Amino acid sequence: MIILAFESSCDETAAAVVQMDEAKGIRRILSSAVASQIAVHALYGGVVPEIASRAHAEAISGLTDRAMSDAGVSEKEIDAVAVTSTPGLIGPLLVGVNYAKALAYAWDKPLIAVNHIKGHVAACYPFFPDLKPPFTAMVVSGSHSSLLEVSSFTDYRALGLTRDDAAGEAFDKVARVLGLPYPGGAEMDRLASLGNPRAIALPSVAVPGDTLDFSFSGIKTAVVNYANTLRMKGEPLVPEDLAASFTRAVTDGVSKRLREAYDRRPFDRFVLAGGVSANSHLRAAVAAFGKKRRVKVYFAPPAYCTDNAAMIGVQAYYEALAGNYAGLDLNPSAVCDI
Ligand code: KG4
Ligand code: ZN
Repeated sequence: MIILAFESSCDETAAAVVQMDEAKGIRRILSSAVASQIAVHALYGGVVPEIASRAHAEAISGLTDRAMSDAGVSEKEIDAVAVTSTPGLIGPLLVGVNYAKALAYAWDKPLIAVNHIKGHVAACYPFFPDLKPPFTAMVVSGSHSSLLEVSSFTDYRALGLTRDDAAGEAFDKVARVLGLPYPGGAEMDRLASLGNPRAIALPSVAVPGDTLDFSFSGIKTAVVNYANTLRMKGEPLVPEDLAASFTRAVTDGVSKRLREAYDRRPFDRFVLAGGVSANSHLRAAVAAFGKKRRVKVYFAPPAYCTDNAAMIGVQAYYEALAGNYAGLDLNPSAVCDI
């Protein structure tokens, strides 16, 4: 099955073509075109939804042409059109959903709606032909921090969620405190390698008690207070130490939740997905957990950790196998249903 897929839930407009055939062992990304709006939003230190919607509308048609020509396929060869329908910013989601609906109607192709979080997990499938549910997964991105039980390609259950901010949001906030440009996750990763992870005591991101939930707002506030206190005292802030200490607090919290999830119900495979899964320190912590508990761990290549449409096309294939097609009355939803 050849699928043309779209992603526009936040600040990347993306179109991709994938070829999937589970019976023949084919999981192929034929093209993946991504137009990032980072430069526009960097001026404001974060994503401005109205500007994002407008930029998606400007980019999506050209990206479609690029994805089709890079893949070397024509309209006739496309079997279905897929699009992220939830969760995300409602204006940006509407642009992708309406474009995909229009194309599905004009080309007379079936339409498939994809949950963005499931898409992030699906980013791993083309790179690991043996990877199949059931497994446990964690999606850590600019908008999500979800620990998930994946019982089939389409059935997900939340084991733990963030109660406030997402992991990536916290990385970006700390980066902003350090004066780094938005989004600062990748630069924080580099700085953290140069600092002392035990230099600054910060609160845990694992919510205390009998829960697998996360909270990132406390650590964000603690970092802001720490920086303000140093400024008032006229003492210097060591960016490397702050990046390393913050990263350690995040990796410790995630590792703790993984151990607890495993103790509640052991699993033998674990997928780490989403933009923050590109973080080298988090990957190392998850790999160490995997080695200790004999859990096989999977990460997508960094370019497929952040938002792209190939992951949406791959998940769409499994939705199609499950008979989950959408009608032309499809509406996006900002809120996630997992
Ligand atoms: O998955 P994604 O592209 O967007 C959402 O679905 O939200 O994730 C973007 C997030 C940003 O917050 C960015 O700073 C973070 O992923 N990120 C990283 C790294 N690379 C990207 N965070 C930590 N370390 C990285 N290496
Ligand atoms: Zn995402």
